[in-house]
Amino acid sequence: VIFKNSADASIIVAQEIAGLIRTKQEKNKKCVLGLATGSSPIKVYQELVRMHKEEGLSFDNVVTFNLDEYYPMPKESNQSYYYFMHQHLFNHVDIRPENINIPDGTVALEDLNQFCVDYEMNIKNAGGLDFQLLGIGRTGHVGFNEPGSHINSGTRIITLDHITKVDASGDFNGIGNVPKKAITMGVSTILRSKRIVLMAWGQNKASIIKRTIQGDISSEVPATFLQNHNNTTFVLDEGAASEL
Ligand code: GLP
Repeated sequence: VIFKNSADASIIVAQEIAGLIRTKQEKNKKCVLGLATGSSPIKVYQELVRMHKEEGLSFDNVVTFNLDEYYPMPKESNQSYYYFMHQHLFNHVDIRPENINIPDGTVALEDLNQFCVDYEMNIKNAGGLDFQLLGIGRTGHVGFNEPGSHINSGTRIITLDHITKVDASGDFNGIGNVPKKAITMGVSTILRSKRIVLMAWGQNKASIIKRTIQGDISSEVPATFLQNHNNTTFVLDEGAASEL
């Protein structure tokens, strides 16, 4: 779906998420959301906060699982995805702290594998993801599933692609300060979500969006695996859609 601008598009995406939360509330069920960081979802979170404050949208039944986190990364660092999520969403709504799940950038190296296994298990035990929000990196990554990521991959530690580090260098005051690794949900974790919305804004995403939607399905562009998911929508602005 192509919108004139990201502001209009973000409101539609926020409305879908709010609708899902309310539908689950009516049935007394939890709503399990997979959430993303980066600049792309910021306006969606703004709109959800507005709906909470002005329209009484409650997050009391919401359980969240974030896609990824840099490794290593202290929670309190303003570069952490933990910090980002609290700043943009969690601090402003009535979500229960125990319902927030974000990969932990402080886990000891020897405990990482178990942490990743547990993260997958926690998603499963929550009933699976009802909705997964995604951005896309210029490498074609979703979460931090960089080129080479297998379709069957689960939550794990990965090495960041050079292009991803270049794109993150502004947040870290130079590429040398960007963490080399990250914990990310896997491709299979994402593909098991019942509904997926991938958002991309601006001309600098146009070429990876063309490869993602019109290119061959391949682990060289992990986002192409979404082509075979039966309930995925790509929400684009005119810039991101300009090469389609
Ligand atoms: C980071 C995140 C991704 C995100 C991507 C794009 O690498 N790990 O989940 O989709 O950046 O970021 P932006 O939305 O700022 O373009």
